[in-house]
Amino acid sequence: MSSQSKVFLNGEFLPLAEAKISVLDRGFLFADGVYEVIPAYAGKLFRLQQHLDRLNSSLAEIRMQPVMTDQEWTTMLTELVSPHQQSDQSVYIQVTRGAGESRDHRLPEDYKATTFAMCQTIVPNGLSTIAKGIKAITLDDIRWDWCHIKSVALLGNILLKQQASDQSCTEAILLRNGFATEGSASNLFIIKNKQLITPPKSHNLLPGITRDLVLELAIKEGIDCIEREISEQELVTADEIWLTSSTKEIMPVIELNRQAVANGQPGEFWQRVSIRYSQFKKELRHQT
Ligand code: PDD
Repeated sequence: MSSQSKVFLNGEFLPLAEAKISVLDRGFLFADGVYEVIPAYAGKLFRLQQHLDRLNSSLAEIRMQPVMTDQEWTTMLTELVSPHQQSDQSVYIQVTRGAGESRDHRLPEDYKATTFAMCQTIVPNGLSTIAKGIKAITLDDIRWDWCHIKSVALLGNILLKQQASDQSCTEAILLRNGFATEGSASNLFIIKNKQLITPPKSHNLLPGITRDLVLELAIKEGIDCIEREISEQELVTADEIWLTSSTKEIMPVIELNRQAVANGQPGEFWQRVSIRYSQFKKELRHQT
């Protein structure tokens, strides 16, 4: 983080080292909170409205009220990213149910939410390495049943990701009842017989903002797209596998469970949709 960078905490912009919260914060004690990650390209926030809508729906799911209006979020986030016009950033937002008087599992009747935001540089080299293709493994999904909420309780996700990392893989593709649902920090797409397939939105996966854009771009590209469940068998015999997220964009999986996916190179459909994705980012950067 550069010296001029400030973080946002409960209405104030502060140097990171001065941003402090109580150890009784329910986010710290119970992971009682939600988050968002929003890319900003040359200071332009990517699909901001969609991210704010998802934040408010995560808050509603955990019985919290919106903490700011969309206009207030927009003003604050624009100010937060304004020193970073020369680079791409990922903005992290976290909202928790705040600090109580003591540790108590029950939801407090009154609470003062803790609202935090910071940005981190997206390293362009990281993305070009990803574009060469990543390795993944399949693992049983050990997480809870409300994966559609962008909860800060990420212990399941991080332990799964670490198992992948222990095997020199970038991602774990998760299996639930014999179906592949999403990655530990990404959404899943496959190409099978020239058709793009992604699992439908449900409690089994996070409704990714990148996922929605990739579907839109693939449709524009004239690719036949369908939202339906993907069996483990279909996954392992797919012609292409992609994993998507805000910070990693569209990752082509070239090796699954130590076996090459098709010819072991990023596929033709991935190339076509990636070009559209880069074009989308370019247009956003130049938006006035
Ligand atoms: N994670 N599924 C899971 C479990 C995720 O954690 C993420 C993103 C996604 C993709 O969502 P989106 O396209 O809106 O980024 C799907 C973020 C980037 C993170 O935890 O850092």
